[in-house]
Formats: sequence, structure tokens, C-alpha cells
Amino acid sequence: MANLAVEFCGVKFQNPLVLASGILGVTSKGLLRVIDLGAGGITTKSLWLESHPGHKNPTMFGNEHYFMNAVGLSDAGIDKAKEELGDYVKNKTAPLIANIVGAKKKDFGIIAESIDELKPDLIEVNISCPNVEDELGKPFACDRASAAEITKLVKSKTSVPVVVKLSPNVENLVSIAKSVEDAGADGITAINTVGPGMRWNIDLKTPLLANKVGGVSGPAIFPIAVKAVYDIYRAVKIPIIATGGICTGREALEIMMAGGTLCGIGTAVYYSGDKTWQNITQEMNNWLDEQGIKNVTEIIGAFHNK
Ligand SMILES: Cc1cc2nc3c(=O)[nH]c(=O)nc-3n(C[C@H](O)[C@H](O)[C@H](O)COP(=O)(O)O)c2cc1C
Repeated sequence: MANLAVEFCGVKFQNPLVLASGILGVTSKGLLRVIDLGAGGITTKSLWLESHPGHKNPTMFGNEHYFMNAVGLSDAGIDKAKEELGDYVKNKTAPLIANIVGAKKKDFGIIAESIDELKPDLIEVNISCPNVEDELGKPFACDRASAAEITKLVKSKTSVPVVVKLSPNVENLVSIAKSVEDAGADGITAINTVGPGMRWNIDLKTPLLANKVGGVSGPAIFPIAVKAVYDIYRAVKIPIIATGGICTGREALEIMMAGGTLCGIGTAVYYSGDKTWQNITQEMNNWLDEQGIKNVTEIIGAFHNK
């Protein structure tokens, strides 16, 4: 069987699949279980400075093509999260990526300093959620200067490698990727959810999400994610956590060939449940074996050599 281990910003992962942010809660028990099921690492949901209520239910809707969510980044705040994640850190067998979010730019610095005490393996900076626009305005990821300012601030508050999570909902994704690299980011996650989008019930004339709009994820956004990763890979030297609609082993391999070192797995978990991790790694292994490839690292960025 091929070796699926990869290194990202000096952190070793037993396979490239990481649980994407927001898919499960932050209880240590739940997150350790995901590793037992075969994930290479986990990302927490976005952690705020103080507790944050999120949006009213219903906050999720899905079909075979895509999911929409307007969870609105609900969270009990950084102190509670540190308490809950303590056990994971003590007992962990795979890396922890702590995802942070702030209402104001300065909050990112305070949260980074606080979460640094827990010593996660990576800090992922969420500047790109599309379903809190009513509350916070356009995400910071839409603007080069704001994206760079937050990156610099977080970097100044922690020695943990910093990965900035970008939005596909911008005209200049590549230039934003370059600006966070220049500001000192150690890696990039691409992409957050697409949109926001909107769906309605035609009989009741009510929106399917109480928030009316929500971020789109799942299979329908995979082509957008592949293009984002492909374009960013050409423009920057830092590694990428490729995320967006990956549901199968062949898709994980495809987006790695486009330039991803790690693969964020989110909505796939709602379709395949506990089997998600084994299904994807098994399919990756089968293909790599058929091709006689010994290490998955050999395929990263393979589309760019042509
Ligand atoms: C229910 C749900 C909640 C999410 N919450 C967060 C979050 O808290 N922070 C974040 O950075 N991304 C969040 N995301 C975005 C995912 O991490 C991921 O970037 C996106 O869904 C695309 O990947 P996927 O198609 O594999 O789900 C959330 C996605 C979903 C579906």
C-alpha cells in the first residue's frame, strides 16, 4: 500500500485528510473519534473571543448536489473551547488545527494569543465566512489590505504556523493569496463556502433557511475549489489545505494534483458518515497502487508539470 503521510508547515499527518472547520463540535471525545475513524487531522469550528449565538434554525439544508448552511459560526467562546480541547491535546494521535474568527480585526490577535497556550499544531484564520455578512459586513478575505493586516497581527501573537482561510467569492483570489503570503502566512486554506446562496419553498413561500441565505458546500463546489487551488498553487510558495466538495478518493487525488498538500473534508461527512475516511483513503490507495506510486507526496501539484 502506498504511503499517504504528508508534511504541512513542518507538521506530520498520517494521511492528507483533515476534518474541515465547523462540521463537528469541539468536544475532545468527538474529535478523537474522527481520528479513530481514519482522519489524518482535525480542524475545530471557528472559535470566537466571547460566546457567539449564530443564526436561528433551520440553519442547514442539503440534497445530493450541495449543502447550504447558515449556522452563523455559533460558539461558546475561546475559554470554553480551550477547556473542551484540553483532552484532545493530552490524548491526541493526530494534529489539531485551531480555527479562529473575529468580529473586529484586533480580536484575531487576542484569540491567537489565547489559543497559543493550548499549542495547537496549526492555527487556521477564518476571514472568509459568507453567512455572517448581515452581522459583520463583507468578509476581511475580500480585501487585500485587511487580509494582510490580520495575517500580520496573528503572526505577531503566536509561534504556531498560521494558515489563512480564503473565500472563493472574490474577483482577485490570487492577489489576495499573494498578499497573505507576503504578510507572513505559513499556509493557505482554499476554499470556504461559496455564495451566499438562497432557496425557497414554493408552496409555503418561505425560505429554506431562517437566515434566508447560506454558504454553499459539497459536490457542486468541487470544480470551483479545484480552480482556486490550481490558481493559488501557481502564484504562491506556501502549502495549501485544499477544501471544497471533496467526497471521493479520486477527487482528493485530483485536488492534490491541482496543488493541495492536505484535503479538508467537510460536507462529505454528511453523506457518508463514519465511513467517509476509510472510503476516501481506500480509493486513494487503490489508485496509487495501480499507478505504482509509493508516496502520495509525489502527486502534489502534478498537473503543473505538464
Ligand atoms: C455546517 C457547516 C459549518 C461550517 N462552519 C465553519 C466554521 O465554523 N469555520 C470555517 O472556517 N468554515 C466553516 N465551514 C466551511 C467548511 O469548513 C468548508 O470550507 C466548506 O464547507 C467547503 O468544504 P466542503 O464542501 O467539503 O464542506 C462550515 C461548513 C459547513 C457545511
